[in-house]
Amino acid sequence: MTAVGDLWASLPVPTIVIGPGDEIVDINSAAEGFFNASAKSMIGLPLWDQLAVDAPLEDSLARARKNGTPLFVNDVDVGNGQRPPLQCALQIAPLQGAADHMVMMISPRELAGRMTQNHSVKSAAKSAIGMAEMLAHEIKNPLAGITGAAQLLSMNLKPEDLELTDLIVEEGRRIVKLLEQVEQFGNLSPPDLQAVNIHDVLDRARRSALLGFGASMTIIEDYDPSLPLAFGDPDQLLQVVLNLLKNASEAAGNAGGTIRLHSYFEHSFRLRRADGSGQSLPLQIEIIDDGPGLPDGIAADIFDPFVSGKENGTGLGLALVSKIISDHGGWISVTSVPGRTVFRLSLPRAPKSTLLASNSED
Ligand SMILES: Nc1ncnc2c1ncn2[C@@H]1O[C@H](COP(=O)(O)OP(=O)(O)OP(=O)(O)O)[C@@H](O)[C@H]1O
Ligand SMILES: [Mg+2]
Repeated sequence: MTAVGDLWASLPVPTIVIGPGDEIVDINSAAEGFFNASAKSMIGLPLWDQLAVDAPLEDSLARARKNGTPLFVNDVDVGNGQRPPLQCALQIAPLQGAADHMVMMISPRELAGRMTQNHSVKSAAKSAIGMAEMLAHEIKNPLAGITGAAQLLSMNLKPEDLELTDLIVEEGRRIVKLLEQVEQFGNLSPPDLQAVNIHDVLDRARRSALLGFGASMTIIEDYDPSLPLAFGDPDQLLQVVLNLLKNASEAAGNAGGTIRLHSYFEHSFRLRRADGSGQSLPLQIEIIDDGPGLPDGIAADIFDPFVSGKENGTGLGLALVSKIISDHGGWISVTSVPGRTVFRLSLPRAPKSTLLASNSED
């Protein structure tokens, strides 16, 4: 309450008072809107059970509380457990006159101009894929007929006309390849989750990249040797890393460039999903390249299918990556400026019960 009115109730920004044990002490009306719940029902609940933040905040909050300093966090995805996360800026400060209490303001950011996105597969994307799958199926048979006919024709043609039938066959192949990619997307089976050594996956991807599409790249390994095993499907994760390496190599072009594979452990990284369930995703894998960065116009949509910045790109690579990671219960995010593009994967740790079955554990 101020001298002129009720500041707390009037603040248009969702604001929370956090108690010494990270419990919710009070929320203002804007925050009631954000959480879609009344202050009465929220008071006393543990903050981190109600707020999903894709950044390790708990430690920083504790530090800010201890030092009595404010804490500003830009560009984090904040969810309330009921709807997809919104990109927000968080401003946290010690509450004057109440020991160890903090206030947190949550300001959702405009989508325009954002450089960080996090994604799960959207339903619009899913229906686009469903449509494409159906088309893929329908186009493949007649296409096989067309290429077959062209090949038959070519047997009686003069050499100078062969060029034309070759073109038909060649383009036909290209379309089939595209259709197969679309079908692969639809056929993706649920991950066969097991304890996996992420470094083995990264190594396999690295070696295969260097032999093929990444021959002109330098790929540096920067691993945390104490990283525990992840819970994932090794083949699907390999495909994820290969797609990311391929994109980085393609972005670098003929001149080549450097890719850094970085792994580390971030024990406080937690995600609260739209369905309200929580998930700890402590294993972090970053694929960092020094290429030109994401093209401006499509940066916000690169995880959607058929979004490509390349002349011959199908735009399915990252859509597949994002689907696989979301099927793993993981998280993918990207930040990009010219000279530094970072794709970060956050994955769950293998539960204890799966470790005995694994032979890759050391
Ligand atoms: N590391 C990167 N650096 C710069 N741009 C990137 C990077 N990764 C992805 N992009 C951009 O994102 C777009 C979408 O990538 P995605 O892998 O989904 O499709 P694609 O590579 O165009 O086609 P496909 O993977 O199906 O062959 C790319 O076309 C490219 O413009
Ligand atoms: Mg790609």
